[in-house]
Amino acid sequence: MKKIIGNKFAFYPMPVVVVGAMVDGKPDFTLAAHLGIVSHEMALISLNQSHYINRGIKENKTLSVNVVDESWLDQAALAGSVSGRNADKSRLFDYKIGGIGAPLINDSKLSMECAVSDVYLVGSFENFVVRVIGTFADESILSEDGERPDYSKFKPVLFEMPGYTFLKTGDTLGKCKSYLNQK
Ligand SMILES: Cc1cc2nc3c(=O)[nH]c(=O)nc-3n(C[C@H](O)[C@H](O)[C@H](O)COP(=O)(O)O)c2cc1C
Repeated sequence: MKKIIGNKFAFYPMPVVVVGAMVDGKPDFTLAAHLGIVSHEMALISLNQSHYINRGIKENKTLSVNVVDESWLDQAALAGSVSGRNADKSRLFDYKIGGIGAPLINDSKLSMECAVSDVYLVGSFENFVVRVIGTFADESILSEDGERPDYSKFKPVLFEMPGYTFLKTGDTLGKCKSYLNQK
């Protein structure tokens, strides 16, 4: 029997990323898990309008999305526990500036440089609609043909809000198409 547990969000777990952007000529980095895919070209990142990084994103119209794995979770968690308004987070990570000016974190094995096309304010959250311009993947996490991330090698950290807990991705169950064929 199912119990009604109110109207709690049950969209979790969600991947955890560190968003990077230049603010006043210096990088700021912010942890985020409220992300979405809104078309096959565009994604969405939801950031509270009080965050320091938002102004830089709006001014430069670029940001980076750095997917977190366990190897650098400690540092990533720090990016989510202090604001650039109160502490300089520009040295929290080694980074390289990408082609359109966003700081890409060296420790992240999978990063995307994104151009911001729209911002929608929903309540107190600025929702940045972004287009991926370039995806940077460490060779160690790539498939045999070198064309895509292999998630048996790369285990992104996940987040769930009700329990405020970090998880990581688990086992491979099989190819989607073979599941569809069983029906
Ligand atoms: C696990 C975790 C996930 C978070 N996800 C989000 C998020 O999706 N959106 C958001 O606005 N803030 C999120 N935060 C909070 C920001 O990362 C945090 O307030 C950060 O210090 C803001 O930094 P800034 O002011 O330098 O931009 C999250 C924090 C944690 C610990």
